[in-house]
Amino acid sequence: MSYFSYKLIHYLGIFLLIAVVGLALGRRSVLDGEDPLRRRWNALHGTALFIILLGGFGLMARIGVAHGEPFPGWLWVKFGIWALLAGTLLAARRWPSRSLALVGLIPLLAVLAGWVAFRKPF
Ligand code: HEM
Repeated sequence: MSYFSYKLIHYLGIFLLIAVVGLALGRRSVLDGEDPLRRRWNALHGTALFIILLGGFGLMARIGVAHGEPFPGWLWVKFGIWALLAGTLLAARRWPSRSLALVGLIPLLAVLAGWVAFRKPF
């Protein structure tokens, strides 16, 4: 598959992730831990995270990040951001009163992930 296709897959995962977390955060019952759709949110969140990785690893191969070589610093930042975004639903359930702060934090993390990939500052 081409660089372009992997990038589209990467974006698909990112947009799905942001949509799912946004929707889930808007449901009071999610934050109370009593949402009947809880398993569905979890499944969609996991699917989005997987698609992001699929696109991300495909992109790595296409831009020539070789197997066995240490990853460049900017990629580690992306792994860190990915892990933080993976924790957002858990965090929302644990600290419901902070869900508004999460709504602000999530797009900021997404922009940072794009910026480090584009600039590759380290
Ligand atoms: C472990 C997870 C991730 C990996 C391995 C990864 C890897 C990559 C790679 C290799 C590129 C291409 C860089 C290039 O074209 O030179 C890229 C681009 C991009 N990534 Fe990720 N990424 C990950 C997570 C994320 C996350 C969580 C987001 C946002 C929520 C994100 C947003 C972006 C964006 C916006 C671009 C396009 C940058 C541009 O070229 O303009 N990535 N990523």
